[in-house]
Amino acid sequence: SNLDLQEIHDFMISIAKKAGEMIMSAKPTTEGAGSKVNSVDLVTETDRVVETLVSTSLRQKYPSFAFMGEETYKPGDRLTTEPTFIVDPIDGTTNFVHHNSSVCISLGLSISMIPTIGVIYNPFTSMLYTAIRSQGAYLNQTHKLPLTPPTPLGTLNNCLVAIEWGSDRSGNDFAVKSNTFAKLSAAKEDGGAMVAGLRTYGSAALNICLTASGGLDVYWEAGPWPWDVCAAWVVLKEAGGMMVDANPGNWEPRIDERRYMAVRGGEGQEEVVEEFWACVQGRFKVG
Ligand code: IPD
Repeated sequence: SNLDLQEIHDFMISIAKKAGEMIMSAKPTTEGAGSKVNSVDLVTETDRVVETLVSTSLRQKYPSFAFMGEETYKPGDRLTTEPTFIVDPIDGTTNFVHHNSSVCISLGLSISMIPTIGVIYNPFTSMLYTAIRSQGAYLNQTHKLPLTPPTPLGTLNNCLVAIEWGSDRSGNDFAVKSNTFAKLSAAKEDGGAMVAGLRTYGSAALNICLTASGGLDVYWEAGPWPWDVCAAWVVLKEAGGMMVDANPGNWEPRIDERRYMAVRGGEGQEEVVEEFWACVQGRFKVG
């Protein structure tokens, strides 16, 4: 295509920085905004205000692009092959409400359903993750990712794994998660795989960026939306990481199927994926 990806990327960074200032100066309150699926699926007034700023600026500059945002999404809206900005004004809303700094704005561009540009900015830590497809991934535009040459992944029991409950707190998908978390963590009588540790940072985008940079080996979750993952997916891929389905068997996940497993770059990715899939207790219905 004849799109100037670099220019779009630079513009997205400027929007992310502006949004970051709004997030920093906002008082997190769910009043007048509230919750979505249940009491743990939160949205704040800031989510809405930031999405409006972002969508207005992006539409003005790129009127022919489609737009998908967390706060304006309607059930049934479909991602198309058109260039589409995919935006989460605040990923990690629960953290934001609790004054926990694991919060970011996530701006992605997909073209032909392929995550193509990613900009993820945490205004509390000033960490900016960026990537353009085929052009590498960066931290703060200066440090190429991963930050150090990746060591081989080895087996699952060497792995530091990020997981999330998300807003699943009942039903089949809750059971798949709980049982899998237990399976991953339990000591094995035969000395088999037991992960080094489970982490839950409360932001899908930051989990994926941390996997890209090498601070996590695997991130596994069913339930995130395209706006939670699109931007960070580009960063992951460009850093040598791999994205597959959270359900066993699918090596080519779609951006809108809501089931993701990210694995960092390094020798032995496929083996870790297979070993992890063998621990998954059941199948997710989401997606
Ligand atoms: C959520 C966060 C959370 C993940 C959920 C996401 P939000 O996004 O990324 O870590 O577990 O699946 O929906 O609601 O904070 O934008």
